[in-house]
Amino acid sequence: MTPFDIIKVSSLRREKLEQLGTKSKYWFTDDDNRQMLFKAVKGDTGEDWSEKIACELCRLLDLPHVHYELAVETEEDKRGVVCQTCAPPPMSLVLGNQLLFALDANYPRDHGRKYKVHQHTVEAVRDVVRTLKPPPTPYATDISGTKCTALDVFLGYVMLDAWIGNQDRHHENWGALTDGENLYLAPTFDHAAGMARNLMDEERQERLTTRDGKRQIAYFARRARSAFYKDDVSKKPMSTFDAWHAFSQFSSEATMIWLRRLSGVSEASVRQLLETVPNDRISDVGREFTLRLLMENRRRLLEGDAP
Ligand SMILES: Nc1ncnc2c1ncn2[C@@H]1O[C@H](COP(=O)(O)OP(=O)(O)OP(=O)(O)O)[C@@H](O)[C@H]1O
Ligand SMILES: [Mg+2]
Repeated sequence: MTPFDIIKVSSLRREKLEQLGTKSKYWFTDDDNRQMLFKAVKGDTGEDWSEKIACELCRLLDLPHVHYELAVETEEDKRGVVCQTCAPPPMSLVLGNQLLFALDANYPRDHGRKYKVHQHTVEAVRDVVRTLKPPPTPYATDISGTKCTALDVFLGYVMLDAWIGNQDRHHENWGALTDGENLYLAPTFDHAAGMARNLMDEERQERLTTRDGKRQIAYFARRARSAFYKDDVSKKPMSTFDAWHAFSQFSSEATMIWLRRLSGVSEASVRQLLETVPNDRISDVGREFTLRLLMENRRRLLEGDAP
């Protein structure tokens, strides 16, 4: 099987650091004159393969997404991913915190905090996403013919988060594209925090083989928390599954469509994706653990939550 391509990036082409987000990253123009972002892996984590695998899972679901490739910055042999801007001129990206603030001037847009924002509630996000148009070309998806709304598509993002255990859908990890006149839901991006990409292989191995129920993957999978709150007095953010159940109330049709798409993604196709990650970026135990985690969450989504 041919491994994923690795794009070579040179820091000499760096034009602008991207200030938002926690990872070190910068923008450059590639040979085809496209604005590209290089995101370096933090420490020794698997943020490169988790971003790439999540992107490929989005493709299998036909979910509007930013496309990532594995990359290496040649000067320092630094692992990472690259993606193209999803907002080439005349488009620009308006992030969730700005959209929420536009609808409610009390929303803490500028607190410099992305996590533990209790006002980032399911209802507030729904109210914003309802005002958007669905993602434009080339991100459009034909999820329910002409009636597809931005909220229908957003449900797919929340289902993806539950599937991959993405705890990072905070208010700067979703947004809208604007041409100055219209606002469209932006494709989903920044999934590097999913799939327990920062576990050590020893822990993965132990969780794969232990007899202790509380150490097993089924139990571990249930710990994933979203960045959504049920309401602004809730103390803790919702689990990724509670967030999915809450959003899925907004459209039974879109829920059915996304679940049907998920059921169409076989274990063999996920295994094949994981095997396509080069051996120097993921170990066999990393592949096996990730596969088991994805299959457990897929089962929970499709069959309900009983272990
Ligand atoms: N493909 C893209 N097109 C346009 N803007 C982008 C794109 N990817 C990232 N950005 C911008 O860069 C910011 C940081 O990128 P990203 O969220 O991928 O990084 P991060 O460091 O992983 O963030 P976090 O702290 O949420 O983990 C985003 O919030 C967004 O404003
Ligand atoms: Mg981010």
